Amino acid sequence: MKKVKFGNTGMKVSEVTLGTMQMGWRIDEEQSFKIMDRALELGINFFDTADIYTRWSELSYAGKTEEIIGRWMADRGTRDDLILATKLRGPMSEDINNRGLSRRHINQAINGSLSRLQTSWIDLYQIHSSDDDTPIEETLHGMNLLIDDGIVNYIGASNILPWKFVESLWKAQELGYQRFESIQPPYNLARRMIIELRYIDIVKKYNIAIIPYSPLGGGFLTGKYKRGTDMPDTPRSKGVEMRYYSDKKFDILEKVEEIAKHHDAKISQVALAWMLSKDYITSPIIGANSIEQLEENVAAVELKLEKDELDQLDDISDWISDYEAMR
Ligand SMILES: NC(=O)c1ccc[n+]([C@@H]2O[C@H](COP(=O)([O-])OP(=O)(O)OC[C@H]3O[C@@H](n4cnc5c(N)ncnc54)[C@H](OP(=O)(O)O)[C@@H]3O)[C@@H](O)[C@H]2O)c1
Repeated sequence: MKKVKFGNTGMKVSEVTLGTMQMGWRIDEEQSFKIMDRALELGINFFDTADIYTRWSELSYAGKTEEIIGRWMADRGTRDDLILATKLRGPMSEDINNRGLSRRHINQAINGSLSRLQTSWIDLYQIHSSDDDTPIEETLHGMNLLIDDGIVNYIGASNILPWKFVESLWKAQELGYQRFESIQPPYNLARRMIIELRYIDIVKKYNIAIIPYSPLGGGFLTGKYKRGTDMPDTPRSKGVEMRYYSDKKFDILEKVEEIAKHHDAKISQVALAWMLSKDYITSPIIGANSIEQLEENVAAVELKLEKDELDQLDDISDWISDYEAMR
């Protein structure tokens, strides 16, 4: 698998990233190990996780995913082979200080992540979202101290408003700090606006890496959801229904399906191939619950769509006319 430059840094990451949010929730440790083994074999060197995974599950707790990855790396001896990204910000307990982006919590969070992941360094340490209670200067300072100590190589941001992201870049420059080198927003054919309206100009101007999450819309762009039929039985389906069930989004899905048939490819592969054709995308983060899903998604890197097909996908998923109509 091709390795691509990570924004303005010298680091190279695989053109797709392995998401791990499902580990310890949708899939158990044994299955998680198999998926990580196969991902590495397939050439994926970039894994994304977060300290808070998988706190939302009644059967799980915050930190479980990092523990699974830590045990896998220790068992397989794979730490050096990986570019490892994790995140902080969410509540790790009921303690009011065990969350957010204060210097205090940054120190607490990194110690927790390093211990669960059984490593002495993180390649990309990301804020999971912004924290209005903490000045950005404090957050940048706390994260820069980790860079100075060699514990973190690069810092990045997820789910942050564009003006706050740009403010952080300017503050970093003013204060002589390392800046956020990446952003992690959602992006897929049925959810283009966040990146295309808010971030494209910023990442081009400042040479920032974009690592989008939910490239398949949590499963919507895979073929298991069909117009006018019952929802599939998966814990993701409620969220998918809420976000993607509209005539326009089913029109997009059906166009993807038509193009997939033409190539004898899977719907998910066409959706990912469309994303990989965009030069502003660094490496989409794919989630997979099985080896089959992983292999199917990774094979998208080989699928090249015709210009006319990419145009058809761009046209049917166009959001600008809807946006203009709202103004
Ligand atoms: N920064 C953030 O706030 C944030 C938020 C969300 C995710 N993330 C990161 O991004 C990663 C990916 O996000 P995501 O899980 O939403 O990505 P996604 O690729 O849009 O959805 C993944 C889900 O789609 C289904 N799926 C995937 N491949 C499939 C295939 N080939 N055939 C059929 N179904 C398939 C599976 O769910 P079912 O089998 O249950 O249908 C899988 O869990 C996460 O693991 C995490 O690392 C970050």
